Amino acid sequence: MRLGIMASGRGSNARAILAAVRDGRLRADVPVLVCNRADAGVLDVAREFDVPAHVVVRSDFPTRTAQQRQMLEVLQDARVDTVALAGFSAIFRPFFLEAFSNRILNIHPSLLPAFGGTMAPKPQADALAAGVKLAGCTVHLVTEDLDSGPIVAQAAVCVHPDDTVDTLAARILEQEHRIFPEALQWFADGRVSVVDGIARVAPAVTA
Ligand code: GRF
Repeated sequence: MRLGIMASGRGSNARAILAAVRDGRLRADVPVLVCNRADAGVLDVAREFDVPAHVVVRSDFPTRTAQQRQMLEVLQDARVDTVALAGFSAIFRPFFLEAFSNRILNIHPSLLPAFGGTMAPKPQADALAAGVKLAGCTVHLVTEDLDSGPIVAQAAVCVHPDDTVDTLAARILEQEHRIFPEALQWFADGRVSVVDGIARVAPAVTA
């Protein structure tokens, strides 16, 4: 699998993916990281792991479509077949999604379909405000509808009575770092299929 990482922020999920590749838990090549913020912490992560980073910021392009065309070109030049959105804040145009049909995965910090449609830390804050006793994270395929694509993996955590948004977000983040690389390996192994909008994960084949 040739995995492109797209990220906008501090990059802890990008780090978890790259550490999994380094340690052999995720058998993939990561030839490129695309970032849409010039000052994002994830650029340091890319340097640390020797992954070429491309910064493609909105203000350098006349339209959002032109920016996405450039991002697509960068990924295609690197012969990427699968994309991990590791904290990437953008809504994709259809042409971008079609270029990687059912091969763009996102990590979202809630148990979807609950608390979708917003960006961290809002989903965690909304979970706390709703008084749910279980929160968590979801790896899902990206479609035109925000946070609504087929669910590939989820992990739940308990909400503690004294939780703040920060403590809850930190507990969820630990699980993000665990399930995102794992779900990507399922793709690398060809175990994920999508039928009628539902992602199914075939059992692992053991020797
Ligand atoms: C995470 O909470 C992730 O679920 C969300 O954005 C945040 C990114 O954090 N999509 P990081 O940049 O990976 O540390």
